[in-house]
Amino acid sequence: MAINIADYIRNVPDFPVAGVQFKDITSLLLSPAAFSDTIDRMVAHAGASKPDCLAAIDSRGFLFAAPMAVRMQLPLLLIRKAGKLPGETLEFDYSLEYGNSTLEIHAGDITPGHRVLIIDDLLATGGSLNAAVSLIEKAGGITASIGVVIELIGLGGRDALSGYHLFSLVSFEVDE
Ligand code: PRP
Ligand code: MG
Repeated sequence: MAINIADYIRNVPDFPVAGVQFKDITSLLLSPAAFSDTIDRMVAHAGASKPDCLAAIDSRGFLFAAPMAVRMQLPLLLIRKAGKLPGETLEFDYSLEYGNSTLEIHAGDITPGHRVLIIDDLLATGGSLNAAVSLIEKAGGITASIGVVIELIGLGGRDALSGYHLFSLVSFEVDE
């Protein structure tokens, strides 16, 4: 029987703050069958964009991008939160719902002109993915496609990334 990935994503009300319906992927990771199926489906969506490499967003994006990169036999680049990468970095500051954050990439990891598939676990406002796109393009890469497992509807994420090919496996209304 086909796996319904949404069934494996636990909803946690009022986390991390009151009123937020948190979409928890730890329940998906506990099922090897559902996790494996998730990776298969992400790879199937991603192939058509013909990427040269994958870029994963710290930290939950790593969980999905790493097995995808192995499956696709493509290089994997890490986009990390500030202060984690040891080499020379490019950085991008962006706003979160509360406060600010910074993402960084090793400047030399991108071959100019290479097509990059950017992966994260979840799209909400699009702030994190938009920062990733900016870093990739500042380094000379081309955004081939953007892939997430979960898309939250109602926070403007897809609009924030308009003009880019964006795929998701499951979507939820933000208050669902
Ligand atoms: C969460 C989630 C996405 C991002 C989505 O990451 O994993 O990366 O927020 O939100 P946005 O579309 O509004 O940017 P978070 O920064 O909480 O950290 P984590 O992945 O390290 O848990
Ligand atoms: Mg994240």
